[in-house]
This record gives sequence, structure tokens and C-alpha cells, in this order.
Amino acid sequence: QAAQKGGYKHFMLKEIFEQPRVITDCMTGRVDWQRKEVSLPELDALPVPRRLHIVACGTSYHAGMWGRHLLENWAQIPVNVEIASEFRYRNPILDPDDVILVISQSGETADTLAGLRIARERGIRVIGLCNVVGSSIARESDTVIYTQAGPEISVASTKAMCSQMTVLTLMALAWGKRKGCLADDILQNAVTGLSKLPGQLEMELPRMRSEAQSIARQYSSARSFFFLGRGQCYPLALEGALKLKEISYIHAEGYASGEMKHGPIALIDPAFPTFALALSDGLYSKVKSNLEEVQARSGKIIALANPGHDLNVDHTWIIPEAWGPLGSFLALPALQLFSYEAADYLGKDVDQPRNLAKSVTVE
Ligand code: G6P
Repeated sequence: QAAQKGGYKHFMLKEIFEQPRVITDCMTGRVDWQRKEVSLPELDALPVPRRLHIVACGTSYHAGMWGRHLLENWAQIPVNVEIASEFRYRNPILDPDDVILVISQSGETADTLAGLRIARERGIRVIGLCNVVGSSIARESDTVIYTQAGPEISVASTKAMCSQMTVLTLMALAWGKRKGCLADDILQNAVTGLSKLPGQLEMELPRMRSEAQSIARQYSSARSFFFLGRGQCYPLALEGALKLKEISYIHAEGYASGEMKHGPIALIDPAFPTFALALSDGLYSKVKSNLEEVQARSGKIIALANPGHDLNVDHTWIIPEAWGPLGSFLALPALQLFSYEAADYLGKDVDQPRNLAKSVTVE
């Protein structure tokens, strides 16, 4: 096992550090760097969906929530994102030309598979976004797109989400281009931004890890955390909270920062810290004012921000900027490393957390 870990203390850490390669592998053969074009041959035979339902669990569900923004903005496809265990017991209104996109690292999650089967029974086309080749979801989908992240051993999912986000980005670009609703400059900027990501991340990860270590140690005695974000950073906030719960057993809630005032802010006191995603995107000033509300209640704040921010909080953790929504690819590993370092410092079993399974094949 030590050899399989490639010198890293845990599989989770190794898999976090594999993300630059994962992004590269996901794009290989799918992006033409010279012509600045994106193609997903798996989708060529299908019409662009009129409406998409994304069905998934856990981290894959968060990737779906993240991808919705791009599919709506770039491909102008209405997207409904659902937790599979809810979707399967509702009576979802599905039109014959809707498409279901099931996202699953393992391809074996029982609730996600059940959602897929409901769609197929109703004659709705299913696209599977899977990591494990030949898995049940891959076999039963009408069309399968593989995420090429390589085997993920750590129970807490990390690189799989990065790969799902990469493919969702490519899907939004490919469908947007085919529909003719994607502006040329967006495609050019996205492709240029994507080409830079693996190198940026590779350079940044060691520094990110030492920052995560120092902050996680200072805050590891907290009993509860908020993770806040807006827009595309909201699903990342949910994922940050999920990671912390899963491996460090510290209670954490992911929240849309604009929703804090509707109740959760009552919980804020000096012992209840907030981890905020305050990247320099179109919602930065809104997040900033949400954080001022937290500070006014004496809440401590760690903020993940880009250079040039004007926040005045307890800890600002600066990560490099990437073009537009691609900034998420640099924020995600910071969240993963924060949880990893907190759990490791607290002496938890990082790769095999209590009560959790890598793949939940029973209901
Ligand atoms: C389990 C794992 C999670 C994962 C979820 C969905 O709960 O512990 O890390 O996100 O299943 O798994 P899937 O394989 O369908 O992506």
C-alpha cells in the first residue's frame, strides 16, 4: 500500500495532488488547442437537450450543481439538479426529449442507478458521466462519458469532482457552440484558461498545502463551521463542508451566503468560524457584505480570495486567479486540503472514515 501511495501519507493527499494530471487527461483528445475548439465525440450523435436533469449523490451531486451554471450560461439549457434519493421517489415531470445526466464516480451508487432506471423505463435518454469503466451506470446509460480520473481509493472523493467539473465545462462549451449561443470570445477565453489550469495548479498545490496546514491547526478545535459561497462557489461551499464532516468529524454546514440572514446567522459567535469563498467573480462585493454581517456578530472568518481583494477578515487565503468560472478549479483543492490537514492533525483515519463507504450500493 505504501508503494501505491507514491510517497504520500494518505491516498487522499495523493489524489488531491493528482488533479493537475486529471484535468489534462480529461481534456486529451477533447480540446483542439490550436483551433481553440472543444469536441466530445460521445455527444455527436445526440441532439442538444432541450432540458437536462442532473441526478447524483454526494460529491457528484455538488459537481452537478456547479455544472448547472455553465450549462445554463453557455449552452442555454434549462437544468434541474437533483439528489438521486429524492428524484427516485418523486414523480418527476419528464418530457420525452428531456435528457437525464447521471453523475457517479463509482458508477455503482444504488440511488443514482435507480434514478437512471426510472428515466429509462419512461423512455428518457440517459447520459452517464462515470469514472469506473464498465460499471453498472456506464453499462446501462444510453451514452457514457468517462471522466478519466484514474482509480480513486480514498473514501472522501477529491479528484473525481475535479474531473467531473472538467467534463461538465467541456459539455457546456460543446453544446453552446453547437447551438450557436456561445460567444466566440467566451470559447477562446475558456480554452486558453483551461490550457493554463494544470500548470497553475501544479505550481500552487505545495504552497496551498502549507497554508492549509497552518490554518487548519489553528481552527481544528472548533466544533462547528460554516462554509459560505454564492453562485458557482455555493456548490463548492457545500463540498467544503461535506469534506470537513466526512474526514475530521467536525460539524460543518455549507450555505449560500445570501441566505445566512434567514436564520443561520443566529448561530454565529466567536467559537463558530466561517470559511468563505470570496473569489473575484461577479458576486465578490455581495459576499463581502455578507461577511461583514458575520463579523458584526463577532464571527471569525477565513476567506479564500484572489489577489487584489479588499477584505478585512481574520485570515485571507490568497489563491491565484483563473479566467471566469475556472477559478473554482483552484478553490476546490484548497477546500480539500483544509479538511485533509484538519483531519490528519486530529489523528483521524483520513482514507477510511468511520461509517462511510466508497461506494454505496445499497439503499
Ligand atoms: C459515497 C462516497 C462519496 C460519494 C458518493 C457518491 O457516499 O463516500 O464520496 O460522493 O458516494 O458516489 P458516486 O460513486 O456515485 O459518485
